[in-house]
Amino acid sequence: MSLKSLSLLRYSVRAYKKDVSVEDSKLTYTLECVRLAPSAVNFQPWKFLVLKSDEAKEKAYPCYDRPWFREAPVIIICCADHSQSWKRRSDGKDHADVDVAIATEHLCLAAAEQGLGTCWVCNFDAEGIRRAFDLPEHVEPVALVPLGYPVDDNAPVKTRKPLEEITKEL
Ligand SMILES: Cc1cc2nc3c(=O)[nH]c(=O)nc-3n(C[C@H](O)[C@H](O)[C@H](O)COP(=O)(O)O)c2cc1C
Repeated sequence: MSLKSLSLLRYSVRAYKKDVSVEDSKLTYTLECVRLAPSAVNFQPWKFLVLKSDEAKEKAYPCYDRPWFREAPVIIICCADHSQSWKRRSDGKDHADVDVAIATEHLCLAAAEQGLGTCWVCNFDAEGIRRAFDLPEHVEPVALVPLGYPVDDNAPVKTRKPLEEITKEL
């Protein structure tokens, strides 16, 4: 599949088939694609908590209280480790967020390639996640990603700014 086709196929899934689990082989493939993501100076300043058990998922639910979030058989907490990330010398900018974002999109695209659905979730209670999963100060939960089979296989039409608006030829 071309990257453009895959980009059109991936969409934010907010309805999951509740009783259909994710095959271990598909989860492993998805996480392998995460592992292969690039990062600044190849520091790989990330940790991915893969919540499969009801007990673990129950701890995450209050931090993003939406009915559809509870339907996904797997939730992945994508974390940045600020103790391992590259900081730019000229201005000190910490690139942990950038690195985790790239790996998280690898996750979403790899899932879509295999017929699975995901949704980036950043509007969650970060302190709650920290407490629930005992994350140390230097580990920041950046995104929660539910993973499962979408109820609707058809990706909605993308609404995006036109190319001319977002690019500038110089
Ligand atoms: C950084 C980031 C944070 C997001 N946070 C949320 C969120 O908290 N809840 C949600 O339902 N969708 C969230 N989204 C999904 C966006 O709303 C969605 O990607 C956008 O509307 C484009 O739609 P598409 O993903 O279906 O192409 C987030 C997406 C990104 C990239």
